[in-house]
Amino acid sequence: MRRAGVLEPRILARPSRSVAGTIAVPGDKSISHRAVLLGAIAAGVTRVRGFLRGEDCLATMAAMRALGVRIDDAGDALQIHGVGSTGLRAAAQPLDLGNSGTALRLLAGLLAGQAFASELTGDASLRKRPMERIAEPLRAMGARIDTTDGRAPLRIAGGRRLTGIDYTLPVASAQIKSAILLAGLAADGLTTVRSPVRSRDHTERMLLAMGAALEQPEDGVVSLPGPAALSGVTIDVPADFSSAAFFIVAGVLGAKSGLLIPGVGVNPTRTGLLTVLRAMGAHIELRNPSQQGAEPVADIYVEQSRLRGCEIGGDVIPLSIDELPILFVAAACAEGRTVVTDAAELRHKESDRIAVMAAGLREVGISVEERPDGLAIDGGRIRGGTIESHGDHRVAMAFAIASLAADAPIEIHSTAEVATSFPDFVRTATNSGLLLDELDGVAA
Ligand code: S3P
Repeated sequence: MRRAGVLEPRILARPSRSVAGTIAVPGDKSISHRAVLLGAIAAGVTRVRGFLRGEDCLATMAAMRALGVRIDDAGDALQIHGVGSTGLRAAAQPLDLGNSGTALRLLAGLLAGQAFASELTGDASLRKRPMERIAEPLRAMGARIDTTDGRAPLRIAGGRRLTGIDYTLPVASAQIKSAILLAGLAADGLTTVRSPVRSRDHTERMLLAMGAALEQPEDGVVSLPGPAALSGVTIDVPADFSSAAFFIVAGVLGAKSGLLIPGVGVNPTRTGLLTVLRAMGAHIELRNPSQQGAEPVADIYVEQSRLRGCEIGGDVIPLSIDELPILFVAAACAEGRTVVTDAAELRHKESDRIAVMAAGLREVGISVEERPDGLAIDGGRIRGGTIESHGDHRVAMAFAIASLAADAPIEIHSTAEVATSFPDFVRTATNSGLLLDELDGVAA
């Protein structure tokens, strides 16, 4: 986000036409957050290998340290010295979760049933995002939570005994589901969360691995008896599918001799992008599938492919929600029209990703129709242009990849937040053949 008087970095992305090689993608953001949050309240030590050292997960780690948890960083692994379900201590300051909605919402669930008061806040982008969606079910469990006009800062009174609820999510959100489950760990009785459509299930998998008696009686329903105690485990974090997604699309657009991304998490609640790209004509293979702890992983192999436009909506949307910005770029390079519906949630991410992607695609010459819940994109030739990413990491990275197929350079503004999820993105992309330069910031 722009801060007065601060220099904002930019990325200049020149057309490169081809990518190749083996791409190392950093650890999964969703799993890294959960490993620290759950490891902190488990009994004993949790070892986390492959932790994502992006700003979002570092914010979670700093928050847990501020709540009295010892976390040793041995370089190759974190050692989290869990304090058990009642061992957290009040933080001296408000907890600042930076740009991370996952960190703030999951932590709110975890802190709702603690004996002490907490205040949670974040950067300008996070303070614009809706928080009543978690405050309301947590209040129904007995927590006292005040939002600031529905947004952060959030004040949690603490000292309240929570009771399990049976809650139907108004939107298919893993963050809301997880916040309720984390509160459910401290609640009396059964906490049940029902989702209209399946969303990512890393919280459920990790809770089970740590010994919670969680049950999933049917698709989209999860129940947790509380109070529940967790035990420390070793967690191997796979490479982040959402970061790999940029290189999957890069490979489809320009890997004539193939591109390999090893060790990627391929949890089916995350890989909707593969379903969609294959339906558009992409050649993608999952090689060496295996199970890494609670999560499935595979090496992803991609080849340059001709894409056709398609219609995307319904159940696949939550399974590809963070990949839609880069999918829009793929659609811009496809033959014909791609129509994305049922994706209104995109308006509540790090930016309004429907409006910001529509503006960016138009800037580079693509014809786009903006709808309340998605976009209709007519594939065409990508020109050069100047993109305002509004401090949204995934928008910035999506347009960096678009340069592969562009006629002229694309200059992307407000790119500092790329470090929230993929700190080495520019170097990784450059090594694969993209022509990216990080430019000094411009005065805001
Ligand atoms: C996340 C869930 C998704 C996703 C976010 C990470 C998570 O948000 O967009 O980047 O780790 O639980 P919603 O669950 O709110 O859709």
